[in-house]
Amino acid sequence: MDMLELMKRRHSVRQYIPAHLHEDDIADLQAEVDACNAESGLNIQLVTNEPQAFKTILGMYMKIKDISNYLVLIGDDTPELEEKVGYYGERLVLKCMELRLSTCWMSSNYKQIPGAFTIKNGERLVLVIALGYGKVDGFDHDSRDIDEVSNVDENSPDWFVKGVEAALLAPTARNQQKFYFELLEGNKVKATAKSGYYTNVDLGIAKYHFEVIAGKENFTWA
Ligand SMILES: Cc1cc2nc3c(=O)[nH]c(=O)nc-3n(C[C@H](O)[C@H](O)[C@H](O)COP(=O)(O)O)c2cc1C
Repeated sequence: MDMLELMKRRHSVRQYIPAHLHEDDIADLQAEVDACNAESGLNIQLVTNEPQAFKTILGMYMKIKDISNYLVLIGDDTPELEEKVGYYGERLVLKCMELRLSTCWMSSNYKQIPGAFTIKNGERLVLVIALGYGKVDGFDHDSRDIDEVSNVDENSPDWFVKGVEAALLAPTARNQQKFYFELLEGNKVKATAKSGYYTNVDLGIAKYHFEVIAGKENFTWA
């Protein structure tokens, strides 16, 4: 299935079927985790069959149910970490979509279970992504207008418009969509995050969507 279709179909899912992941799905996802870690230097870890992390009072209140598989997004604690985690985490979310696994980025509502993953010296756990076979599909999020999040106008090239539209399909914390894409001279694109809750992670996620749909051959990041 094409990537735009996967982006359109993706919704946050907070309730899962309580079944073990198929071995093939685990192997395919682990291979993509390994590829992301090799490319980025991150230390993303896939945790399976661990049902305790999301058993929290707030989680019950939020109707979070039967999560026992998740990705833990960890990396060297540098100023770039959050954006990097967003970019590679969303690559893994879309890989999950390809495998028919649902997901939900989670900055809260979970606890760290000793022994489930490792954080090395100098590293930081930024957040996690719950995943599994969804019990529900989720739904389309409300979206900001394209001219609120970019300098798109009637002269903008098609690839830029399509890239920003794809960024608007991306998940963001509290659905805030606090990013801005600016097309500059010489097909350079500047993407920035406004200040707020996890907006640098959101920026990395939105940049991944933009890049995949706009096409790397059409622009360079400013
Ligand atoms: C960085 C980030 C953190 C998030 N944290 C949580 C969370 O702690 N709990 C939760 O239920 N959803 C969380 N979400 C999911 C968002 O609420 C969701 O992506 C947004 O409302 C848009 O909906 P959609 O993903 O269905 O398109 C988070 C999303 C992102 C990108």
